[in-house]
Amino acid sequence: MAESNRVVFFDTTLRDGEQSPGCTMHHEEKIRMAHQLAALGVDVIEAGFAIASTGDFNSVQAIAHEVRGSRICSLARCKRADIEAAAKAVEPAQINRIHVFLASSDLHLEAKLKITRAQALEQAAEHVKLACTYSDDVEFSAEDATRSDIDFLVQIVTVAIQAGAKTINLPDTVGYSTPAEYQQLFETIRERVPNADSVIFSTHCHDDLGMGTANALAGVLGGARQVEVTITGIGERAGNAALEEVAAAMAVRRDAYPFTNNIKMTELYPTSKLLGEIISFSPAPNKAVVGKNAFAHESGIHQHGVLANPLTYEIMTPASVGVTANNIVLGKHSGRKALQHRLHEMGFALAGEELDAVYLRFTELADRKKSIYDQDIVALVGEPVA
Ligand code: KIV
Ligand code: ZN
Repeated sequence: MAESNRVVFFDTTLRDGEQSPGCTMHHEEKIRMAHQLAALGVDVIEAGFAIASTGDFNSVQAIAHEVRGSRICSLARCKRADIEAAAKAVEPAQINRIHVFLASSDLHLEAKLKITRAQALEQAAEHVKLACTYSDDVEFSAEDATRSDIDFLVQIVTVAIQAGAKTINLPDTVGYSTPAEYQQLFETIRERVPNADSVIFSTHCHDDLGMGTANALAGVLGGARQVEVTITGIGERAGNAALEEVAAAMAVRRDAYPFTNNIKMTELYPTSKLLGEIISFSPAPNKAVVGKNAFAHESGIHQHGVLANPLTYEIMTPASVGVTANNIVLGKHSGRKALQHRLHEMGFALAGEELDAVYLRFTELADRKKSIYDQDIVALVGEPVA
């Protein structure tokens, strides 16, 4: 299975993303978002953590009822009540998944769960088996995998596969790993775990050191064929690997990442826009792929280049990711060519001395005013020459 080049996109915006500050979503908002994730071509939507609250249960169930085209999944701890709630919530879906997790690092086992390694192995086996009685698609996550003892990680993954898990996730829960280490982790586990080829391995990368996307891609190079991601990278603390970044890297750098996926690239921007309208913040303007400035050019040199040939300063077209807005921003760094281009778009055919005069007034205004709008330009054209 792992030999295929098809990468499964597992979106956890509605679970890992939603559980972070400022990202709470109401029932109807989660359903709207889930429909958009399906339109984006996400393979698996982690719709929530059914046991967490009645509200969470209801949203997972409603999404399972009405969203078609994606597999609907709920998270569950290694507890009977969690698995039963997850199973009930995802039951109405056309295709569903139960995602069972248990920490595998000694730090988590001792400080948080207060269980031994032997107990962890028992719990993982028992609850993966239980989940398999409710769904034919069970994923097991070894939480804090990147800080776990490698021999124990091999053991717990082996046990989960024997119990029936079809996807094995090795999360970098605290965003601690480097790309080289994370790639190596997948290579080692795939080599040492019996029947590793019968399951799909998954990445789940937090961004605490700003390496979430790089780590997710490194995991894929190491043999993972599922990436767990969120729209604009929302999620616990510094967030998760961003779906749009992983998808864009695979599209633009096919030479380095020769993988296929089901993501409809032109839905990336509309999806991020919808999320920004629902949660309490939009991505930073310089956010890769979907930020307001991701395709904006203000400096004269860049504007000149882009107007001559967009490839000079753009590695993908704005349209390819669903951005339709004007990418030439007029400001104090803009040159005459960019102003002439904008004037032309607005229906003013200025050249020569006439253009020089308007450009002079434009630079004076741009020194005083941070943003120059079309109405400012109309006023500049209409101003009598001093
Ligand atoms: O970061 C993490 O380890 C998680 C698991 C629950 C998959 O979110
Ligand atoms: Zn996480």
